[in-house]
Amino acid sequence: MTDPKLRVLIPSGKIQARIRELGSQISKDYPEGNLHFVCILKGACFFMADLARAMERDVAIDFMGISTYGKGKTSSGEVKVTKDLDVTVEGADVLIVEDIVDSGVTLNYLVHLLEQRRPKSIRIAALLDKPERRLRPVHVNYVGFQIPDRFVVGYGLDYAERYRNLDAVCVLDDEPAA
Ligand code: PRP
Repeated sequence: MTDPKLRVLIPSGKIQARIRELGSQISKDYPEGNLHFVCILKGACFFMADLARAMERDVAIDFMGISTYGKGKTSSGEVKVTKDLDVTVEGADVLIVEDIVDSGVTLNYLVHLLEQRRPKSIRIAALLDKPERRLRPVHVNYVGFQIPDRFVVGYGLDYAERYRNLDAVCVLDDEPAA
């Protein structure tokens, strides 16, 4: 895709190499047991698909839809589940799979919600982390890349539903092309 407003921040090859490392690390950390990946729609679906295939063991996959209001502006962002899990995670090792952690509002809420369902453990894998933007505390166990506070699209991330299918993470430049 050629678009003058896009500048590659993390090229596809780097993303895939990092996901292979994460898959190998996570596989070692969970040598056995009932491991459930919980993908947060929609942005994380590309990361989840690649991470699951980089795993050296069997994993179950499931999806959750979350919507947030007032996100990033205040620490009191309202969160709502728009699609719940299909199967129970009681007694399972849950790995929440996210494309990006920004304010932390979404994951802070989700961890508390899933804890009530009595899983054996909960950890978080996020491809991208913007620590500067944090409003709520979140412990991200597996981070692909820490990035600066720039508006990024691609590899699942959108701007008004566009650009999700880019294979790289790109900065979306508001400056008009020269
Ligand atoms: C994005 C991202 C995370 C959340 C992170 O989702 O996928 O779920 O925002 O932001 P936070 O840390 O400030 O809560 P978005 O609401 O844009 O939905 P989408 O994945 O469907 O694009």
